[in-house]
Amino acid sequence: MKRAVYPGSFDPMTLGHLDVIERAAKMFDTLTVSVLNNTSKSPLFSVEERVKILQKAIAHLDNVEVDSFSGLLIDYCREKELHVVIRGLRAITDFEYELQIAQTNRKLSAGAVDTIFLTTSLEYAYLSSSAVKEIARFGGDIRQCVPKFLVQQVYDKYKER
Ligand code: PNS
Repeated sequence: MKRAVYPGSFDPMTLGHLDVIERAAKMFDTLTVSVLNNTSKSPLFSVEERVKILQKAIAHLDNVEVDSFSGLLIDYCREKELHVVIRGLRAITDFEYELQIAQTNRKLSAGAVDTIFLTTSLEYAYLSSSAVKEIARFGGDIRQCVPKFLVQQVYDKYKER
Protein backbone atom coordinates (compact mmCIF):
# COMPACT_ATOMS: atom_id res chain seq x y z
CA MET A 1 0.00 0.00 0.00
CA LYS A 2 1.53 3.32 -1.08
CA ARG A 3 0.79 6.04 1.47
CA ALA A 4 1.90 9.67 1.64
CA VAL A 5 1.44 12.72 3.82
CA TYR A 6 1.02 16.30 2.62
CA PRO A 7 1.88 18.52 5.59
CA GLY A 8 1.44 22.27 5.76
CA SER A 9 0.02 25.26 7.56
CA PHE A 10 -2.93 25.62 5.15
CA ASP A 11 -3.82 29.01 6.69
CA PRO A 12 -5.93 29.18 4.62
CA MET A 13 -5.81 26.40 2.09
CA THR A 14 -5.68 27.60 -1.51
CA LEU A 15 -6.61 26.20 -4.91
CA GLY A 16 -2.87 25.56 -5.32
CA HIS A 17 -2.96 23.23 -2.31
CA LEU A 18 -6.04 21.51 -3.69
CA ASP A 19 -4.29 21.00 -7.02
CA VAL A 20 -1.35 19.30 -5.27
CA ILE A 21 -3.75 17.16 -3.18
CA GLU A 22 -5.72 16.00 -6.23
CA ARG A 23 -2.58 15.10 -8.16
CA ALA A 24 -0.87 13.35 -5.23
CA ALA A 25 -4.08 11.40 -4.51
CA LYS A 26 -3.79 9.85 -7.97
CA MET A 27 -0.24 8.67 -7.27
CA PHE A 28 -0.80 7.06 -3.87
CA ASP A 29 -3.31 4.61 -2.41
CA THR A 30 -3.93 6.97 0.48
CA LEU A 31 -2.96 10.57 1.15
CA THR A 32 -3.10 12.22 4.57
CA VAL A 33 -3.26 16.00 4.48
CA SER A 34 -1.94 17.10 7.86
CA VAL A 35 -2.23 20.58 9.35
CA LEU A 36 0.69 21.79 11.46
CA ASN A 37 -0.39 23.03 14.87
CA ASN A 38 2.28 25.70 15.24
CA THR A 39 1.94 27.34 18.63
CA SER A 40 4.52 30.02 17.81
CA LYS A 41 2.35 31.53 15.04
CA SER A 42 -0.95 33.34 15.41
CA PRO A 43 -2.95 31.92 12.53
CA LEU A 44 -6.03 33.34 10.83
CA PHE A 45 -7.90 30.03 11.22
CA SER A 46 -7.58 27.66 14.18
CA VAL A 47 -6.26 24.17 13.50
CA GLU A 48 -9.77 22.77 13.97
CA GLU A 49 -11.16 25.25 11.44
CA ARG A 50 -8.40 24.45 8.94
CA VAL A 51 -9.05 20.71 9.30
CA LYS A 52 -12.79 21.25 8.69
CA ILE A 53 -12.11 23.44 5.66
CA LEU A 54 -9.76 20.86 4.16
CA GLN A 55 -12.26 18.07 4.85
CA LYS A 56 -14.89 19.99 2.92
CA ALA A 57 -12.49 20.70 0.05
CA ILE A 58 -11.42 17.06 -0.34
CA ALA A 59 -14.88 15.51 0.13
CA HIS A 60 -14.82 14.33 -3.52
CA LEU A 61 -11.58 12.36 -3.00
CA ASP A 62 -12.10 8.87 -1.58
CA ASN A 63 -8.49 8.14 -0.64
CA VAL A 64 -7.68 11.42 1.13
CA GLU A 65 -8.04 12.09 4.85
CA VAL A 66 -7.28 15.16 6.94
CA ASP A 67 -5.39 15.19 10.21
CA SER A 68 -3.24 17.57 12.29
CA PHE A 69 0.10 17.31 14.02
CA SER A 70 2.36 19.18 16.43
CA GLY A 71 6.11 19.00 16.80
CA LEU A 72 8.44 17.43 14.29
CA LEU A 73 7.07 16.04 11.06
CA ILE A 74 9.36 13.01 11.25
CA ASP A 75 7.95 12.08 14.68
CA TYR A 76 4.44 12.29 13.25
CA CYS A 77 5.53 10.16 10.27
CA ARG A 78 7.08 7.57 12.59
CA GLU A 79 3.92 7.40 14.69
CA LYS A 80 1.68 7.03 11.63
CA GLU A 81 4.16 4.80 9.76
CA LEU A 82 4.35 7.23 6.87
CA HIS A 83 7.51 7.41 4.77
CA VAL A 84 6.70 9.78 1.93
CA VAL A 85 6.12 13.51 2.29
CA ILE A 86 4.56 15.53 -0.52
CA ARG A 87 5.38 19.19 -0.98
CA GLY A 88 4.50 21.61 -3.77
CA LEU A 89 7.09 23.76 -5.50
CA ARG A 90 5.83 26.97 -7.06
CA ALA A 91 9.07 28.57 -8.15
CA ILE A 92 12.80 28.38 -7.68
CA THR A 93 12.41 30.64 -4.66
CA ASP A 94 10.61 27.80 -2.84
CA PHE A 95 13.36 25.36 -3.66
CA GLU A 96 16.08 26.37 -1.21
CA TYR A 97 13.74 26.29 1.79
CA GLU A 98 12.09 23.05 0.72
CA LEU A 99 15.41 21.37 -0.05
CA GLN A 100 16.68 22.22 3.42
CA ILE A 101 13.57 20.83 5.13
CA ALA A 102 13.56 17.69 2.97
CA GLN A 103 17.23 17.01 3.66
CA THR A 104 16.81 17.70 7.39
CA ASN A 105 13.86 15.32 7.56
CA ARG A 106 15.79 12.62 5.71
CA LYS A 107 18.79 13.03 7.99
CA LEU A 108 16.77 13.18 11.23
CA SER A 109 14.76 10.12 10.25
CA ALA A 110 17.87 8.17 9.21
CA GLY A 111 16.51 7.88 5.69
CA ALA A 112 13.05 6.71 6.73
CA VAL A 113 11.25 9.83 5.45
CA ASP A 114 11.69 10.99 1.88
CA THR A 115 10.12 14.00 0.18
CA ILE A 116 8.54 14.11 -3.25
CA PHE A 117 8.00 17.51 -4.87
CA LEU A 118 5.16 18.28 -7.21
CA THR A 119 5.57 21.38 -9.32
CA THR A 120 2.51 23.56 -8.96
CA SER A 121 0.27 23.91 -11.99
CA LEU A 122 1.16 27.15 -13.78
CA GLU A 123 -2.23 28.72 -13.13
CA TYR A 124 -1.53 28.55 -9.38
CA ALA A 125 2.18 29.39 -9.44
CA TYR A 126 1.52 32.88 -8.06
CA LEU A 127 -0.70 31.69 -5.22
CA SER A 128 0.22 31.55 -1.55
CA SER A 129 -1.73 31.59 1.71
CA SER A 130 0.09 34.81 2.66
CA ALA A 131 -0.99 36.49 -0.58
CA VAL A 132 -4.60 35.39 -0.02
CA LYS A 133 -4.53 36.90 3.48
CA GLU A 134 -2.99 40.14 2.24
CA ILE A 135 -5.55 40.51 -0.57
CA ALA A 136 -8.50 39.66 1.72
CA ARG A 137 -7.31 42.01 4.44
CA PHE A 138 -7.67 44.92 2.03
CA GLY A 139 -10.97 43.69 0.59
CA GLY A 140 -9.49 42.41 -2.68
CA ASP A 141 -10.92 39.61 -4.81
CA ILE A 142 -9.85 36.13 -3.65
CA ARG A 143 -12.38 34.16 -5.69
CA GLN A 144 -9.65 32.74 -7.92
CA CYS A 145 -7.47 31.80 -4.97
CA VAL A 146 -9.55 29.60 -2.65
CA PRO A 147 -12.49 27.19 -3.03
CA LYS A 148 -15.85 28.96 -3.46
CA PHE A 149 -17.21 27.92 -0.04
CA LEU A 150 -14.17 29.45 1.69
CA VAL A 151 -14.24 32.95 0.16
CA GLN A 152 -16.71 34.49 2.63
CA GLN A 153 -15.15 32.67 5.59
CA VAL A 154 -11.84 34.40 4.89
CA TYR A 155 -13.44 37.85 4.59
CA ASP A 156 -15.41 37.20 7.79
CA LYS A 157 -12.19 36.52 9.68
CA TYR A 158 -11.02 40.05 8.90
CA LYS A 159 -14.41 41.51 9.86
CA GLU A 160 -14.06 39.82 13.28
CA ARG A 161 -10.67 41.46 13.88
O1 PNS B 1 2.66 25.31 4.68
P1 PNS B 1 4.02 25.52 5.27
O2 PNS B 1 3.97 26.49 6.42
O3 PNS B 1 5.04 25.90 4.24
O4 PNS B 1 4.46 24.08 5.87
C1 PNS B 1 5.70 23.89 6.50
C2 PNS B 1 5.77 22.54 7.22
C3 PNS B 1 4.55 22.32 8.08
C4 PNS B 1 5.83 21.42 6.21
C5 PNS B 1 7.08 22.52 8.06
O5 PNS B 1 7.20 23.73 8.72
C6 PNS B 1 7.09 21.40 9.10
O6 PNS B 1 7.11 20.24 8.76
N1 PNS B 1 7.09 21.79 10.39
C7 PNS B 1 7.10 20.87 11.51
C8 PNS B 1 8.44 20.96 12.27
C9 PNS B 1 9.48 20.16 11.50
O7 PNS B 1 9.42 18.96 11.43
N2 PNS B 1 10.43 20.89 10.86
C10 PNS B 1 11.41 20.25 9.98
C11 PNS B 1 12.77 20.28 10.53
S1 PNS B 1 13.50 21.87 10.19
